[in-house]
Amino acid sequence: MSNTHSRVPEPVASEHIPLKARNVSFSWEDTPLHWLPDDPFTTHTINVLHLLLPAGERWFVHVYKQVLPYIRDERLREDVIGFIGQEAMHAQAHDEVLPHLRARGLDPTPYTAQVDWLFEKLLGDRTLPPGRARHWWLMERVAMIAAIEHYTAFLGDWVLNATELDRRGADPTMLDLLRWHGAEEVEHRSVAFDLFLHVDGGYRRRVRTWATAFTALVFLWQRGARFFMENDPTLTDGRASFKDFHRSGRAGTLPTTGAMLRSIPRYLSRSYHPSQEGSTAQAVAYLASSPAATAAERAAAGGRASDMPRLATLALATGAAVLARRALRRRTAASPLWPLRPGGAGVRAATPRALRLRVAGMSAWPRAWSDSASRAPACRRGSRAPTSTSYSPRGSCGSTRSAATPGTPPRTPSRRG
Ligand SMILES: [Fe+2]
Ligand SMILES: [Fe+2]
Repeated sequence: MSNTHSRVPEPVASEHIPLKARNVSFSWEDTPLHWLPDDPFTTHTINVLHLLLPAGERWFVHVYKQVLPYIRDERLREDVIGFIGQEAMHAQAHDEVLPHLRARGLDPTPYTAQVDWLFEKLLGDRTLPPGRARHWWLMERVAMIAAIEHYTAFLGDWVLNATELDRRGADPTMLDLLRWHGAEEVEHRSVAFDLFLHVDGGYRRRVRTWATAFTALVFLWQRGARFFMENDPTLTDGRASFKDFHRSGRAGTLPTTGAMLRSIPRYLSRSYHPSQEGSTAQAVAYLASSPAATAAERAAAGGRASDMPRLATLALATGAAVLARRALRRRTAASPLWPLRPGGAGVRAATPRALRLRVAGMSAWPRAWSDSASRAPACRRGSRAPTSTSYSPRGSCGSTRSAATPGTPPRTPSRRG
C-alpha cells in the first residue's frame, strides 16, 4: 500500500461556508424517557450519543488546540477555530441531557466514567519525549478525529432526512437537538479531513486510524445501547442486539446496515473528500428553522442590540465630560486666581485639584504623594536610592516628610481631594 496520493481528493467549493457556534439551550422537563414513543431500543441507541459525545468532542477540542500552531493556511485556521467552537457547544448540549436521564431513573455515570477514561487517559496526552514520538501521537489523533468526523457527518446527514422519526411522533426537543447537531456536523464535515491532509495526509495513517476509530465506535455504541436497555427502570428484560439494529434501520428510525457498510469504502477511497457527501444547503436551511438555533440567533442579536444603549450612554458621557472641561477652563482662565503656577501660566495647569490646593495655600505639594503613575519614574531616578522597585505613596523615594518642602506640614492622603 503506497503512502502517496495517486488521486488528490477534490473538495466541492460551493459546500464550504464560514462556521460559527450557536449558543443553544434545550429544556428537558417535558421530554419522556422514551422520546420515540413505544420504541425504547431506538431511543436508547440514539441516546448513546449523549454518553459518547461530551467526552469525545471535548477531546477533539483538546487535540485541535495543540494542532493550531501547525496550521499555515489562514482559511483552514479559521475553519478549525469555528469547528472548535461548534464542537464545544455540542459537548455541552449533550452533557445537559444526562441530568434529565438521571431524573427519569437512568443513571449513566458507570458508562460515562469509562468513556471519560478512554478519551482522557487512553487517547489523552501521553508522557512522550518532545520530538518525533510526540508529533506522531498528535498526528495519529488528528487522523482519528477525521475518521470519526466521517461518521458524525454521516449521522448528521441521516438525521436531517430521517422523516420516520417525525412520523412516529419523536419528542420535538430531542429531535431539534439531534438535527441542530447533525446540521452543524454537515456544515463542518470537511474541516477535520482538510486539517489531516494539511498536517499529514498519509494514506496508511488514514486507513489505520479509520480501522481503530470504526472498531471503537461499534464497540462503544453496542455497549452503550446494551447498558441503557439493561438499566432502563421501565423495562423488565431490556436487551439490545444487532438484529434490533438491522430491523430499526429497515424501519427508517436508525441508519440502515447497508448505508453504514457502504460508507466504509467511500472514506477509504483515495479521491474521497467529505464535501462530496451531504448538503450544506440542507444543513443551513434546517439551522434557519431550528427552534434552538433561531432562539440562539435572537439572543445573540439581542445582546448586540443591548450593547447599543450602553455605547450611546458612554458616548454622551464622554461628550459631556469634554464640554464640562472646556467650560471649567474658560472659568478658571477668567478667575483672579489665574495663573496658578508662577511663571508657568497655562490652561493645562488649571486642574480642579490644583485650583483647590492654591486656594488652600498648599502650593508645595509633596512629590511622593503625587499621582504614582506619572511621578514614580522621576522618583526612581532621583538622588535617593530606591529600596523597592514598586512605587507607593509613602514610597521608595524616602519618607513623605523628607520629600516635602521644608516647613510644609505633612498631609495625609485623605486630604488629596
Ligand atoms: Fe459535534
Ligand atoms: Fe463534528
